[in-house]
Amino acid sequence: MRIVLGVGGGIAAYKVASLLRLFTEAGHNVTVIPTEAATRFVGVATWEALSGNPVSNSVFDDVHQVNHVRLGHEADLIVVAPATADLLARAATGQASDLLTNTLLMARGPVLFAPAMHTEMWQHAATRANVETLRSRGVAVLEPASGRLTGADSGPGRLPEPEAIFDAALALAQGQSDYQLPLAGRTVTISAGGTREPLDPVRFLGNRSSGKQGVALAVAARNAGATVRLIAAHMDVPAPAGVDVVTVETALQLREAALAAAADSDVVIMAAAVADFRPAEISGTKIKKRDDTADPVITLVRNPDILQELVEARNAPENRVDRGNQLIVGFAAETGDGQGDVLAYAGAKLKRKGCDLLVVNHVGTDKVFGQDTNSVVILARSGAEPQLAAGSKTEVSAAVITRVGQELNHVSPRA
Ligand code: CTP
Repeated sequence: MRIVLGVGGGIAAYKVASLLRLFTEAGHNVTVIPTEAATRFVGVATWEALSGNPVSNSVFDDVHQVNHVRLGHEADLIVVAPATADLLARAATGQASDLLTNTLLMARGPVLFAPAMHTEMWQHAATRANVETLRSRGVAVLEPASGRLTGADSGPGRLPEPEAIFDAALALAQGQSDYQLPLAGRTVTISAGGTREPLDPVRFLGNRSSGKQGVALAVAARNAGATVRLIAAHMDVPAPAGVDVVTVETALQLREAALAAAADSDVVIMAAAVADFRPAEISGTKIKKRDDTADPVITLVRNPDILQELVEARNAPENRVDRGNQLIVGFAAETGDGQGDVLAYAGAKLKRKGCDLLVVNHVGTDKVFGQDTNSVVILARSGAEPQLAAGSKTEVSAAVITRVGQELNHVSPRA
């Protein structure tokens, strides 16, 4: 495809270099048109080097080629990112004040705007009206993501992740004109990693969870446009950018963080490997081996079942209005045994825990934990046919998040 990538003058312009990379690596021919202001954030040399095409922002460069006419007519797709409040306003009012706005007026193919600005600017009546005007003309305007903005402020206004804009752009090019990110406007809480239950100041009971699945889910949810809260127990992999992270160690800490985050989440996904038991007592000092006393015996007590508590909280009469539509997703690792197969155990677990979806891993000693690939079955409380998903943890996560989006389809986003 021939793509025109318009870049607006916002700090998020630096992220658009990754978007450009995604387009070129997928084999598309991209011409970048930055606004004058955009070149204050990322220089023309960067765009030329990454696109392999000359870059200009003036209608008075190469006048003999009548660039705005040529680029606008030839483009199979125009993507504008970051679309600033100023660019949205100029596009909505049909101004032709630079090469990008001229090109937009000449466009014959689909146009996608990926806005980024401070929350107040995004919510301002003027911007709302401009977005409505553009949408009414068939231009696709993505909802911005929520989260940390340029300064200390946070809220809707973040540029959607490059992968999300890439997906939206390709969907648009394939004719899905009303495409929106499937989890735009949704808040998704995801627990990841393995809890650690201390025995003494230097020892703990832990498990082999790497956190890879939970992190892949967080990335998929973020890329689908959600505001993501990651509750991270011990993980071997770093938390991804663009998500809010709460770090926890024990099951009790995870419980507290999950119940708090769930209070205003549309979706809660419990991907963490939570210890079912913790030592009844934590020694304040290091447990020493001694010849004059018997070896220690560790007594364990049950940890609360967080998933079950989340379901109970969601179902509580006082939460019916606010959280009645919350979607709760559990994970289960099953081996099956002489008494029942994996699906039988998983079906029973789904009933017992009361969650809406249960993502079931079939584990053997060499499978799942710390591995990059996975194969799962998604069971639904509704009784829908079990859905198979296999592949890398990224692919499995994409399938789970797509399913979450489908389940949420009939539920409007939280106010
Ligand atoms: N989970 C939880 N709180 C716990 C234990 C597990 O919220 N104390 C969650 C996990 O995050 C996962 C799901 O419950 O989403 C299933 O966990 P799993 O360990 O497979 O199930 P258990 O209830 O521990 O059942 P069993 O040990 O009998 O297989």
